[in-house]
Amino acid sequence: MSSAGMTLSPVRNEPPSMMPLLRADSLPEETILSFELSIVAPQRKQFSLEPLIVNPKAKLPLVVKDMVSSASDGLRSGNPPVRSREGTGGAYFMQASSGNKYVGVFKPIDEEPTAENNPHGLPLSPNGEGLKKGTKVGEGALREVAAYLLDHPKSGEERGFAGVPPTTMVECLHPGFNHPKGVQTKIGSLQMFTENDGSCEDMGPASFPVEEVHKISVLDIRLANADRHGGNILMSKDEEGKIVLIPIDHGYCLPESFEDCTFEWLYWSQARKPYSRETLDYIRSLNAEEDINLLKFHGWKMPLKTARTLRISTMLLKKGAERGLTAFEIGNMMCRETLSKKSLVEEMVEEAQEAVLPGTSEAAFLEALSDVMDYHLDEVVRSQEQ
Ligand SMILES: Nc1ncnc2c1ncn2[C@@H]1O[C@H](COP(=O)(O)OP(=O)(O)O)[C@@H](O)[C@H]1O
Ligand SMILES: [Mg+2]
Repeated sequence: MSSAGMTLSPVRNEPPSMMPLLRADSLPEETILSFELSIVAPQRKQFSLEPLIVNPKAKLPLVVKDMVSSASDGLRSGNPPVRSREGTGGAYFMQASSGNKYVGVFKPIDEEPTAENNPHGLPLSPNGEGLKKGTKVGEGALREVAAYLLDHPKSGEERGFAGVPPTTMVECLHPGFNHPKGVQTKIGSLQMFTENDGSCEDMGPASFPVEEVHKISVLDIRLANADRHGGNILMSKDEEGKIVLIPIDHGYCLPESFEDCTFEWLYWSQARKPYSRETLDYIRSLNAEEDINLLKFHGWKMPLKTARTLRISTMLLKKGAERGLTAFEIGNMMCRETLSKKSLVEEMVEEAQEAVLPGTSEAAFLEALSDVMDYHLDEVVRSQEQ
């Protein structure tokens, strides 16, 4: 904190803009000295916003570049970040330069729930684990970006299959964030702001189109999302007035264990309808190994346990869909019925672990799991036929 204003104010305790109005000969010597110094010293920047690129070969899509430059222009025009009243972490709406609309949502990692600068005063994590099992404090932004990167569009389309708003990692400096220990540059995710009419918490699900619910289910099953409550699905309407669901808040996807998976849509009737041919084609096109490599290319070398989650949930989604199971049936296998009763996917993982020798390769474990999964899924199908 050493801009011209900050250098002067401790001496006279006056707002900086007042100082030049004072006559120099009426001031004590030390004041004049610091005033002169502040004129020659370069003004320290009070704000900045830059993309954080780990691999320069990974080019930012145009929509992402535009979002970052609009948010940056907004700060330059003097429009400060506006903190959201919703949610448990620090989430800030970044304004356009015109000041009459939001262009992005910035979520700094040091303001995540249970992180040290959380603005809601949540207690610090005692062991570094995030609010959900199998996640770490400070990794929310990575997961937000991963969800966007993995939300591949259907062939020939630009928008991601589930419509995760474009998201990227940025470094941002602004005094308007929560800085209990002094203003510092923050790292976090910047997601495109999406105009909406509220979230799924504000409205019953009866009028949600089946395809909209299914696209969210595919995303959540793949990413083993541990935070899919209604507040994390925004609603808007397209040109024809049809409801569009927008999945947000993926800071707790891809956990290292399945313990905390929860899917709000599980209880919606649309989840019990069969997947359409298009959705089945999309599911068939998914490939966990390619996904892991893609994230690595963008700078996230996933720990083995996180990569395993993605491999297992993609496997379950593909095997389930192949057998004609619904989003409800597949999703239900990933969620605990009660806090203490393990989900079917957790049981299948344990069974596969017992079937291989300790120290077996990941590939051999996955092969064992594939057999275990086939057995259980075939049993589900058989029980339906009876
Ligand atoms: N992409 C977005 N577009 C519009 N509003 C958003 C977007 N992302 C978040 N929000 C708003 O900000 C709130 C907090 O964001 P969220 O990502 O859910 O943070 P938290 O992790 O704190 O729950 C959301 O409930 C929503 O109202
Ligand atoms: Mg949220």
